[in-house]
Amino acid sequence: MIDRRAALTGLSAAILSSCTGEAATTDAAPLKSFLTAPLGVAAMTAEFADPQWQALTATHFDRLTPEWEMKMEYILQSDGSHRFEAPDRLLRQAKLNRQGIFGHALVWYAQDGAYFQNLRSDKARFEAAYRAYVQAVVGRYTGQVDGWDVVNEPILDDGSGLRNCLWRDVLGDYYIDIAYHAAHGADPACPLVLNDYNLEHTPAKRRQFLKLVDDMQKRGVPLHVLGTQTHISAALEPGALKATLRDLAATGLKIHVSEVDVSLKEAAKNAFDFKSYRAQQIRQIEELAEAWLSLPVAQQYGITIWGLRDKDSWYNRSQKGLLADEPLLFDDTGALKPLGQAFVKALR
Ligand code: G3I
Repeated sequence: MIDRRAALTGLSAAILSSCTGEAATTDAAPLKSFLTAPLGVAAMTAEFADPQWQALTATHFDRLTPEWEMKMEYILQSDGSHRFEAPDRLLRQAKLNRQGIFGHALVWYAQDGAYFQNLRSDKARFEAAYRAYVQAVVGRYTGQVDGWDVVNEPILDDGSGLRNCLWRDVLGDYYIDIAYHAAHGADPACPLVLNDYNLEHTPAKRRQFLKLVDDMQKRGVPLHVLGTQTHISAALEPGALKATLRDLAATGLKIHVSEVDVSLKEAAKNAFDFKSYRAQQIRQIEELAEAWLSLPVAQQYGITIWGLRDKDSWYNRSQKGLLADEPLLFDDTGALKPLGQAFVKALR
């Protein structure tokens, strides 16, 4: 296990010399050694068959976030039964490489499934099944995960209030409290996270997110970490990342920068003239590192990159055939791109 402090002091000069070139580099020092908090990466069992993916993630990251296999879409079957083969494999993989596992995600508007849809007319049974799901999943991994995204993406995109979803339809706004209390009961020592996206892009959404956090704290809901996904465009307003981490940190809670990617396609739109946006992309990752370093160490829960190589990005899985996006730190050959080198340099 890398001694972070040694790496951050004694080795930083040597490391930086291998990460300051303009071209992509394959001799990058472990990225995780540049943070005192865990550096995570999104992972799925389908990637385990790729030796380069295995080697690079073991070298550079010390936490895995299951990209989809710890969500309801994988675990919950239509008859209410659960399957855990993939999450169990992810946990074994992480333990092999002395990495943590971050639990993502228990309750999400985007995934409710036939089982719960079929219970929607019976509130008592629905609530019992809802609690039981959270308790079963969290309980299976008690003491083995670094934390849980208990509720994911609860705020409407325009920031006007809570998103409507099956959970809220049946249980009301209290669906949030029920989930956190059930998770806390199943693993009292586990940090519980509220996670959302576009908090940097849409200040109104950030305000509404922080209002929910304040309301939850006033109701005594067990909430320990705030997750800001940070799926950003290279053309994001300069200063937005710093303002976001500053505002979230003002709560005193820990901060998880939970799903980082910096899209060129989101910036270039249909022009695809990526070259015009690369400098802005670099500037975004530098601002992220600067904002991160300005957080008190006690509030630095971790940074998670939403994929290893550009080809592993969710952006490139759903848009076959179109010009591939380049949102991640490593290129498709497994070399650390100038974006990754800029991240490392700014973390120093
Ligand atoms: O790999 C399997 C394939 O074997 C199977 O045949 C197929 C059948 O459905 O599913 C494939 O898995 C897909 C998986 O991505 C891997 O490609 C799942 O269907 C698909 O639902 C899953 O999508 C994930 C999505 O969340 C929904 O869970 C994306 O990978 C993942 O990047 C995305 O991540 C979300 C975060 O959880 C929340 N924040 C936004 C972020 C991006 O949308």
